[in-house]
Amino acid sequence: MSAEASSRPGKASVSTVAIVGGGVIGAGWIGRYLHRGADVRVFDPDPEAERKISDVLANAETAFEMLYGVAPVKGTLSYHSDLADAVAGAAIVHESVPERLDLKQRVHAEITGAAGPDTIICTSTSGLLPTKIQEGLDQPGNLIVAHPFNPVYLLPLVELVAGQQTAADVMDRAAKIFDAVGMKPLKVRKEIDAFIADRLLEAVWRESLWLVKDGIATTEEIDDAIRYGFGLRWAQMGLFQTYHTAGGEVGMRAFIEMFKPSLHWPWTKLMDVPELDDALIDAIADGVEEQARGMTARDLERQRDKNLVGILHALKANNWGAGTLV
Ligand SMILES: NC(=O)c1ccc[n+]([C@@H]2O[C@H](COP(=O)([O-])OP(=O)(O)OC[C@H]3O[C@@H](n4cnc5c(N)ncnc54)[C@H](O)[C@@H]3O)[C@@H](O)[C@H]2O)c1
Repeated sequence: MSAEASSRPGKASVSTVAIVGGGVIGAGWIGRYLHRGADVRVFDPDPEAERKISDVLANAETAFEMLYGVAPVKGTLSYHSDLADAVAGAAIVHESVPERLDLKQRVHAEITGAAGPDTIICTSTSGLLPTKIQEGLDQPGNLIVAHPFNPVYLLPLVELVAGQQTAADVMDRAAKIFDAVGMKPLKVRKEIDAFIADRLLEAVWRESLWLVKDGIATTEEIDDAIRYGFGLRWAQMGLFQTYHTAGGEVGMRAFIEMFKPSLHWPWTKLMDVPELDDALIDAIADGVEEQARGMTARDLERQRDKNLVGILHALKANNWGAGTLV
């Protein structure tokens, strides 16, 4: 093996991948696999899909080069006008169509009808139960949730959730494939709505909507509260380990002792959800436009990717957390 080959990031352990739905998430999956040598077959009925995917792949390629210091050795990318044609011969399929149960069920009926008996079939759903998506399928056994995070080509986490009809070995087989493409498969022990990460994010999102609605903070002030403070901590130690360090020499037990009473104070709106009426939507959408200071969404994506690569490099230098996967 040449020095260059040995320094290359993990090669995909599957040769052929099918992507059904090539929007924000589907395009991210394409970048993740294509740049690790897999052949990727895409089905998306949007006539603009190819152009949009190309834009994301250009960003993904730049991010790969920044992260690893080498250009990716790419597989081949093909677009198919027929779902069954795209899925044929794939070792793994990622469905990333819009978050509607009826649509997902319809699309998975088509996918399972076209896929081979050993093909792993993943849904990117952000929180729908896999058991619900499996309802009515002739062959539900290979279906599993593989919930990624945007941008999929850079962020390693993928939550794996089995449904009641998922065959026993599918989660482990899927985890091996994700390990090989530099991801961190997190096997969710129980099937619950929104899994782990989106339950957390939903709570923060809900509280943030209240803060805007009640006129307490702008979108920028809330983002600053995250990115100048606890957001930096979260990226490297998460929540519990961070709080362990917040309890001084005693650690977590002292932290709990100090903050136990606050859980009974009105610090949180808990489960109330503010109505997303026009006024609130305007406040949020106008707020983020103002924050962007003229940068387009694609400009912001590129800035985000540069920042993420820097964080991953710093974590790698410390042999810590997500940096251990680079
Ligand atoms: N956006 C996120 O941050 C994020 C993160 C994790 C998971 N997800 C999940 O990923 C899935 C896709 O979300 P997204 O943000 O990429 O949405 P998106 O709207 O960007 O992309 C959806 C794509 O699916 C295509 N599509 C629609 N109907 C289709 C069909 N019948 N067959 C094939 N393709 C079809 C659309 O043309 C579009 O390109 C959702 O389940 C969502 O919950 C989203």
